[in-house]
Amino acid sequence: MSKRVFIIVLDSMGIGELPDAHLWHDEGSNTLGAIRNHENFCCPNLTKMGLFNIDGVGGGIEKPTASFARLGEVSMGKDTTIGHWEIAGVISPEPLPTYPNGFPEEVLDAIRKKTGRGILCNLPYSGTDVIRDFGEEHVKTGDLIVYTSADSVLQIAAHEDVIPVPELYKICEDVREIMQGKHGVGRIIARPFNGVHPFTRTANRHDFSLTPPKTTMLDLLQKAGYDTISVGKIVDIFAGKSISDSNRIKNNRDGMNISIGIEDRDFNGLCFINLVDFDMVYGHRNDVPGYAKAMTEFDQQLGVFIDKMRDDDLLIITADHGCDPATPSTDHSREYVPMILYGKHVKAGVDLKTRRSYSDIAATVLDYFNVPQEDVSGESFLKETLSESAFLPDSAPSDAKLMEFAAEAQKRAYAPYSRFQVGAALLTAEGKVYQGCNIENATYTPTICAERTAFFKAISEGERNFAKLAIAGGREGEALSDLCAPCGVCRQVMAEFCSPDFIIVLGTPEKYKEYKLSELLPEMFTKKDL
Ligand code: THU
Repeated sequence: MSKRVFIIVLDSMGIGELPDAHLWHDEGSNTLGAIRNHENFCCPNLTKMGLFNIDGVGGGIEKPTASFARLGEVSMGKDTTIGHWEIAGVISPEPLPTYPNGFPEEVLDAIRKKTGRGILCNLPYSGTDVIRDFGEEHVKTGDLIVYTSADSVLQIAAHEDVIPVPELYKICEDVREIMQGKHGVGRIIARPFNGVHPFTRTANRHDFSLTPPKTTMLDLLQKAGYDTISVGKIVDIFAGKSISDSNRIKNNRDGMNISIGIEDRDFNGLCFINLVDFDMVYGHRNDVPGYAKAMTEFDQQLGVFIDKMRDDDLLIITADHGCDPATPSTDHSREYVPMILYGKHVKAGVDLKTRRSYSDIAATVLDYFNVPQEDVSGESFLKETLSESAFLPDSAPSDAKLMEFAAEAQKRAYAPYSRFQVGAALLTAEGKVYQGCNIENATYTPTICAERTAFFKAISEGERNFAKLAIAGGREGEALSDLCAPCGVCRQVMAEFCSPDFIIVLGTPEKYKEYKLSELLPEMFTKKDL
């Protein structure tokens, strides 16, 4: 059986300040809060799933279809790298280093020694200004233009005719080796340019990311033989480590289209998706209408995505930090992030409230794949959120097989009065099957349906935990009907012994569909009402 988890990171989609936001000068930041009331914002799919039911968000609906939580950030950071590492189970006790006054002499010395070249600039600088101001001297001397920004980066600009691109990349790799430990900046960035003053940057930018300092969920998944697919900048954030296949994207729309395409692949493992436009194009530019519109577009594509999900797929929607576009700051903000867990096996409307760390996602993903967590941080919320059908042993029959058991039981029906024969196959949480058929009576009323026969057999044998039920029925001597749905009394019996997420498989062994009990019996009356 193939199991798949899709994690979609809406880059910077925070949902309100963390308790320590004041330490980051982010009091009052709320990225979702800043865009949700804009006329461009229309997200029915996220709303149905329960985005607004999350702790502290406000405006939730009555019956959300997903399980959800508000996650705090334990790491000392509010950047993309640290946020994603925490999602993958690595807590960073220290922020990545930044250099508002330029790099210290010890770093510059090491770079000079390693590369044999001098250094120009060494300040936070705009990328276009830096080549305008230092480009000519660089062309004359061959010295490296080293600069930084508010982010944890060391950037090296060089003219392509002075330092050919492959050589610049090699220099960046060497600098990457130097910039470890206390000088472990998030990225070393090669910034080639060409032409004459004021010079133009070329498309050969390349990022050399810091390798995560500890074991991530990706490492453990790959070691256990699972696929680890990256969409967007995930591959860079993890410096390519433990990624089996990476897919570059042009923008959010392209990222979702590629992910929708990946849903058709028969992989077994994780597909980890980052949609960076929310942050890069709208958050940093304080573009509220743009951010709101981008969410609306995402929500439309999300509709397509969820329609294509398979029965054993899990979808997690989350974020890596905030970037409130309505505050004067154009920087990231220290915020809670949403966690929405959706899938056929996921119980609808489980409110996990506020949890400590983004890393609970890593623990949950590993738990789903039965991979021991080792030293990866986080606490799994799998048990609370998945229905019994998700924990079936590998030996349990598939839906098709369960349908065959139902069809086999149908042949044993005792239905001389209605001549309508029904068979049922009830699967317990341990993977055992109980079959039942309808049994009629000359006085009609003592007649019992196939479903209840199966349930009462199982219950009288001591079974109490049920995962699925398949039903097959049809007129005597004829083919099975396309859909034999359970009667109201049988639905009520199921409500007594099964959760609202109990799965009922209807159709024929050739063509069947899964339903949740809550779909077949909404607003059910159960012991909780007494
Ligand atoms: N029946 C079932 O066994 N299960 C169903 O889901 C629908 C109906 C039986 C009861 C009766 O023996 C016959 O079908 C006609 O109602």
